[in-house]
Amino acid sequence: MSTDRDTVRSYDTVAAEYAAEAAAVPEWVATEIDAFVAELGGSGRVLEIGSGGGRDALELEKRGISVRRTDISNGFVELLREAGFEADLLDPLTDDLADPRRPGMPYNGIWACASLIHVAREDFSTVLGRLAEATRTDGRLHVSVREGDGEDVSTYGGAAAPRRYVETYWREAALRSALTKAGWIVSQIRPCIGRPDDRWLSVRARRARRTQTLGLDWPSGSGRESKLKPR
Ligand SMILES: C[S@@+](CC[C@H](N)C(=O)[O-])C[C@H]1O[C@@H](n2cnc3c(N)ncnc32)[C@H](O)[C@@H]1O
Repeated sequence: MSTDRDTVRSYDTVAAEYAAEAAAVPEWVATEIDAFVAELGGSGRVLEIGSGGGRDALELEKRGISVRRTDISNGFVELLREAGFEADLLDPLTDDLADPRRPGMPYNGIWACASLIHVAREDFSTVLGRLAEATRTDGRLHVSVREGDGEDVSTYGGAAAPRRYVETYWREAALRSALTKAGWIVSQIRPCIGRPDDRWLSVRARRARRTQTLGLDWPSGSGRESKLKPR
C-alpha cells in the first residue's frame, strides 16, 4: 500500500500552471457535473478528492452543493487557500476522511474527477471502500479514470525540476468489479473522450446499504464499518 510521492511532488511543482491549463470545464465533465447534482437533488455536502485548481468545486457550488475541497498535493491546497477557499491536504488512501467541519455527518456524495488515476491498482479498492464508508447510504459517487490497460509512467523536465507521473488505466469490467466489491452500486460507466485520444471511463454510482455489501468484501466485524453515526 503506497502513494506515489513523485506524482504528488510533480503536481506541487506545477500547481499554478496546471490550474490555469485546466480552467475550462471539458464538455464530458460538465455533463457529469449536471448529472451528479441532479442525483443529489441540488443540495448536500460533497467530499472532493483531488480538487486541483478548484474548477469543479466552483461549478458544484454554483448548482447548490457544499464542497469540501481536498488535495494530496500541498501545491494545490496552498493555491486554493490563497484564493480564499478552505482546503485540506488529504490522501484518500490513508487519511481520516471524516468532515472536520461537520463532525459525525457522512457526506452526501464524493466527487473524484481524474484524480484516482494516480492510485495504484492494488490500492484502488481500498480507496473506494474508504470513500464508501465516509458516505451515507444512497449517497452518490463520481469517479473518472483513464480507459486502457496497464500503467503509464511519464517524465518531463530537466534535472533541476524533474517531474514524473504514474497513472493506472482501467477497463470497464475490472472497474465495475472494484466498485461493487467496495460497497458501491454502479448505475453507469460512460466512455468519454476529452482531447483526441484522451479516453475516460466516467462512473455514476451510489453507496450500497451495509447489508447489500455483506458477503462481499465488507463482512460484519471486519473492522471496516464506519465509525460515523448510524444512518
Ligand atoms: C489530473 S489532476 C485532476 C485535477 C482536477 N480534479 C481536474 O479534474 O482538473 C489529478 C489530481 O489528483 C491528485 N492526486 C495525485 N495523486 C493522487 C493520489 N494518489 N490520490 C488522490 N489524488 C491524487 C493531484 O494532486 C491532482 O489534483
